Order: sequence, then C-alpha cells, then structure tokens
Amino acid sequence: MTQPLEPDPCVLVIFGASGDLTQRKLIPALMELDHQDRLPKGLCVLGVSRTPMTDDEWRAKLKPHAQKHVANFNDTHWHHFAQRLHYQPGSATESAMYPAMAQRINDIAKRHGTIKPAADQPNVLFYLSVAPQLYSGIIEQIGAAGMVLEGRRWCAIDPGAMPWQRIIIEKPFGEDVESAATLNRNLGRVFEEEAIYRIDHYLGKELVQNILVMRFANTLFEPVWNNQFVDHVQLTAAESVGVGRRAGNFYDAAGAMRDMIQSHLLQVLALVAMESPSVYDQHAIRREKIKIIMAARPIEPAEAHLSGVLGRYGSSGNREDEDTGKGYEELEGVNPEKRTETYAALRVYFDNWRWSGVPFYVRSGKKMARKLTEVVIQFKQPPIDLFRGITEGGRPANRIIINIAPEDGVSLRFEAKVPGSKFKIDSVKMDLDYAKAFNAEPIEAYGPLMLDAMRGDQTLYKHRDEVETGWRIVQPVLDSPRVREGIQTYRAGSWGPDAADEMLARDGRRWHNPAKGETR
Ligand code: BG6
Repeated sequence: MTQPLEPDPCVLVIFGASGDLTQRKLIPALMELDHQDRLPKGLCVLGVSRTPMTDDEWRAKLKPHAQKHVANFNDTHWHHFAQRLHYQPGSATESAMYPAMAQRINDIAKRHGTIKPAADQPNVLFYLSVAPQLYSGIIEQIGAAGMVLEGRRWCAIDPGAMPWQRIIIEKPFGEDVESAATLNRNLGRVFEEEAIYRIDHYLGKELVQNILVMRFANTLFEPVWNNQFVDHVQLTAAESVGVGRRAGNFYDAAGAMRDMIQSHLLQVLALVAMESPSVYDQHAIRREKIKIIMAARPIEPAEAHLSGVLGRYGSSGNREDEDTGKGYEELEGVNPEKRTETYAALRVYFDNWRWSGVPFYVRSGKKMARKLTEVVIQFKQPPIDLFRGITEGGRPANRIIINIAPEDGVSLRFEAKVPGSKFKIDSVKMDLDYAKAFNAEPIEAYGPLMLDAMRGDQTLYKHRDEVETGWRIVQPVLDSPRVREGIQTYRAGSWGPDAADEMLARDGRRWHNPAKGETR
C-alpha cells in the first residue's frame, strides 16, 4: 500500500449549512479533527444556505450543537476553531448566487492562505447536504459558473500546482436504477469520476473497515470463507427507534430497502464477499467491490416474493417514544396507500466460484427488538458427527459474528468439551471487544471520511458502478406488486414480520435474533 497522502488544505463548501447533518455531524466532526490537530492548516468552511446570516450568526447557531456532540468541548477551542467557519446566504437554485459564492470562496481562501498561485484559486471540496432533488441543479450551476477546472488541471505541467475541485454527495443516489444513472450522468458532466465522493457513513465504521483486515491480514479465516465451509451469511441492521419526524418529509418516499439496504448494507456485503485485491489501494479495492456486486444473481420479477420481504411497524402504545406510540401508517405525512416499508429483508446469491449456492440474507428495520448491526458468518456442520451417540447430537455449527453496533467486536462460537468426567459438549464464545483490545473510543465516521476526500482517497467512497448495480439488485423487489401488496405489519419491538422468518424457514434456516442482554 502506498502511504496515505496528507489531506490538502481546501475550502469546504457545505450546501445545506443550516441543516441537521451539518449541525449534528459535519461541524462537530471537523471540530474534533481540529482538536486532534488533524485538519490541514488553512482549511476553512463556507456554509451556504438560504437563511440570511452573518459568519458570526452561523457560528452562534452551530455552537450549541458542537457543545452537545463534541467530546471535551471547551470555549477556547471553539473560539479558535470557529475562525475557520464562514457563511454565505443564498439560494442554491438561483444561478446569480454562484459567481458571488465563487468570489467569496476566493476571498476566504486568501484570508486563510490557501490560494494556489498557478490558478489564483484554492482547492475546493463541495459537500451537498441538501434535499436530493436539488443535487442536479447545484451540480449544473457549479459547472456553469466555471468553478471546476479539472481539464486545465490535467493539462498543466505540474498537476499538483493546480487546484482541485471535488464533490462529496450524500445518499440517496437516485431512487431507482434510472434516476441513479441520470444523477451519475449529471455529475459526470461537471466532475471526473475521481473527483466524485459518494459518501456512505457505514464505510467509515471501524468494524466495517476491519472486515478486509480480518479477512486478508490473517491466514485463519480466508481459507474457510467460501461455499465449501460457509452455509450462509446474515447481515442485520436493526434499530429500536421509529421514524419519528422524518416520516413525511423523507422516509415515506424512501423506505427501508432504499434507506438502508441499497445504500449501506450492500456495501458491507461487498466487503464480506469480495475477492482479495492484489494491492491495498483505492482502485484495486473498488474494482473488487464492483466485481462482487455485479456477480449478484438478478432476482426474477416473478420470483421477487421469494427473495424479498417488506414490513411496517404497528403501534407501540408507548406515548413517550419518538412516534408517540403510533404505528408507521398513522404518522403525519405518511400515505398508507403507498405501503412504504419500515422493514426490508432480501436474499442475495453471488454467482461466482467462491459463493455459488450460499445465500446472503440482509435485513434492516425500524422499531425492532434492539439496536443491532452485525454480520453473521454461519459455517456448515463438520462433515461427520464424530461424537454421535456419545453426547447429544445436532450441535450448532461454528459461527463468526462481526458486531458493528452497538458494541464493536468480533465473536467466534465453537464447540468445546465441558470439564468433568461425563463426556459433554457445549458451545463457547471467544469475544474480541474492540474498544477494550485497543483501548480506543469509537470515532464518528464523518471526520475521517472528509479527511479522505481532502487527500484524494476514494477507498471508502462508492463508485458509480456500485451504485447503479446496487439498484439493479433491489429493484425487482421494490417493483414487485406481490411483495408490496403482501407488506405485513410487525409488532413494534419485535424482530420484524413473520414473512421474513418464513423466507429463511423455506431454506431451512433461522435469523440470528440475540436476546436482550446477550451481547453477541
Ligand atoms: C441513515 C438512515 O443513513 O442511517 C437512517 O437514513 C438510519 O434511517 C441511519 O437511522 C442508521 O445509521 P447508524 O449508523 O445508526 O446505523
């Protein structure tokens, strides 16, 4: 692996400066990085949104969120960090705003000493944290205002002397195959693919990144990581919270399959299933991810009901929760006719030599029994049951669980002799508690991901092919009238609809539903 480059100083232009993500995640993450002295010197931020505000007013609006979300917040540090923050009021839909914004970018870059003399402009990292319907318009306006110099950059004798322009874009990347392709085309008209950073905060999670290390830095796991030894794989991202206020303005148009499975979980699956890259670099890793996603067997529309299940939660009756106890259908802004799902499960097969015949089951839902994100690698039974007749048969097969949330860790279940004169076998677990092993606190994914974009590392960002192929995997289930009409209501606080259990039962398998208190 080539050593990571240093993050380049730039002007980070955040569209959606007064939005939730900026306040709760992006600015606190930047402040943390500043605190750890990891931000490039001269890095400054230009927040853009419609609300008329001065720099100081924006800083004052951000401060309480930083106080809440930044560990060891203190006023002196905030005062120092806030000097990096600037604000530009303006509507992203009005072309007149862009020349003014370009001028402001240069002004603040001069103040922070980050102008690149070759082009008299700074590096610029755009961050779209706005409603997705605004994406294409903003991208077009950035292009029309002449703010992207990539062509000139490549022609320059010393490309490093020329400023770069990159864009980070938040999901959803389209809402189906077509719209994702359109968005990618619009992005591609203005930015090179290598300047486009499609962010996925799941790829920033430590235990997700650890999947490749676990598989490829050890000899222990990889030889058994295939259809000869693995019976099936499960990936669960369960949340105990409901949809709450987001119901009408976002969620009802998205649903769990788009919100979680197409966007985040297929990426995790790709890391679990992909082949080893020949080198650990961004291009090689992305190529392998694209290859495995493309190896997913297309789901036949007529059979979508056998490979996909949708559900929505019923009332919890608990007036204290974020939905005041209401079922999803009763929430404000929800159109019950649309039958939007708050739970989705999917069965995927990868048609390649390694995984032929091994099902990958993926599920995600709101208001489930507990918050739990995990990957279960379920191994097959040993080829013979040597202890048959000596001890009770039907012992569980080995299992590795990669625990992504709430605790970061890995656990391995295997069989062992129970001490004593009577020959007895029981299952035991070996647990790696990540935080304890490394004496480290989990870090917020956004900060390191933004640093990666500043250093030009796309390893943890998605390529357009991954996004478009991901849609092809889920689309037959989303489009199936039979699946949509068969949507079941599941009990709030349960593990989801019965149909999802039945999908596995038909294959002779069961979901791993750990009881409360059982860590792994
Ligand atoms: C977001 C989804 O991308 O991920 C949310 O839009 C979901 O609906 C969230 O709650 C889950 O993220 P995490 O990191 O808490 O698993």
